[in-house]
Amino acid sequence: MLRRLYHEQPDSFAFTPANQAWAEAQITKYPEGRQASAVIPLLWRAQEQEGWVTKPAIEYIANMLDMAYIRVLEVTSFYFMFQMQPVGSVAHLQICGTTSCMICGAEDLIAVCKEKIAANPHELSADGKFSWEEVECLGACTNAPMAQIGKDYYEDLTAEGLAKMIDDMAAGQVPVPGPQNGRYAAEPLSGLTSLTEYDSGKTKYNASAQLATDLGDSIKRIDGSEVPLTTPWIGKDGKVAGRDAADPTPAVPKPAMPAAKQAELRKKMAEETTAKPDVKPAAEPTTREDVAEKQPEVLDAARDGQADDLKLLKGVGPKLEQTLNELGFFHFDQVAAWGPEEIAWVDSRLKFKGRIERDGWIEQAKILAEGGDTEFSTRSKKGDKAGE
Ligand code: FES
Repeated sequence: MLRRLYHEQPDSFAFTPANQAWAEAQITKYPEGRQASAVIPLLWRAQEQEGWVTKPAIEYIANMLDMAYIRVLEVTSFYFMFQMQPVGSVAHLQICGTTSCMICGAEDLIAVCKEKIAANPHELSADGKFSWEEVECLGACTNAPMAQIGKDYYEDLTAEGLAKMIDDMAAGQVPVPGPQNGRYAAEPLSGLTSLTEYDSGKTKYNASAQLATDLGDSIKRIDGSEVPLTTPWIGKDGKVAGRDAADPTPAVPKPAMPAAKQAELRKKMAEETTAKPDVKPAAEPTTREDVAEKQPEVLDAARDGQADDLKLLKGVGPKLEQTLNELGFFHFDQVAAWGPEEIAWVDSRLKFKGRIERDGWIEQAKILAEGGDTEFSTRSKKGDKAGE
């Protein structure tokens, strides 16, 4: 399964205002400094909006989460739930071809896809409405053979049934997800042998299929226009449920990015995409060359042989600390004294440029130099203690 950036990419990406608000609300689920944990939901939303995950979308999300572009690309290319090339405008069918499904008829399903959609996986149908691929086990083996279409599972499929489903979708209908042979969920085909009194008929379909049906967004592009922004993890008091009271993470969603800022971000993305056809980390600075470099004051060794723990700066690990020491920086007050020209000097000597400003080293160093603590240094010290 070769997964890489598609050779043709759009110029830019931006979430719709509603999806932007949704994405920003997702970020509030995670503690300060752990915003990168929102990468999968944000990528998924971008895919729901565009149909596939584009390079500008990867860069946009990397910027939103303050992550290196390559990290977001790694996540995207690792999970085959993310499509890295254009897919059918109506639906992309992922047919499970692993053991249970293969034994139960996956090859017949693939034959239907070849006949009705396109001869090869990831090839668009002649009308551009459909595409398909074979994927590994999707964990619904009891209901083999099955396929994932959009965000839902269609189970207990037959070749005839799948062919009809494709025709129905082409005609604008959305087939009900779940088992297609009358089973409610994953009970034995021959009927229940235990819990026979269990009343599973509280809803017409099983919970998953019922929710999909109620939401009606199984194969729909999510542009935010009809799906309300829901933030169930934020209580009526505006606090994130389960979050420690002492945790300074903002408890309410940040307001949606102002339109002007969105336009600015879109422009930046477009410029980067046009100017840099090759894959490069989005975090690489584009304006650093404009700032003159000036060597900051350096030391041959730590004062009194006692260097500060520069790893208490967010973004500085053991390797980077060693590099800083080799450059002549051992103390927080040295870092705190850097101005734009000094930052440019140090930045040009670091492997991943732009991180000084991105991670806010100067502001952190000022606090630490005065004996204070940042949220990150407090957590690091706690972690060290716990590990002792
Ligand atoms: S083998 Fe197809 S879902 Fe597991």
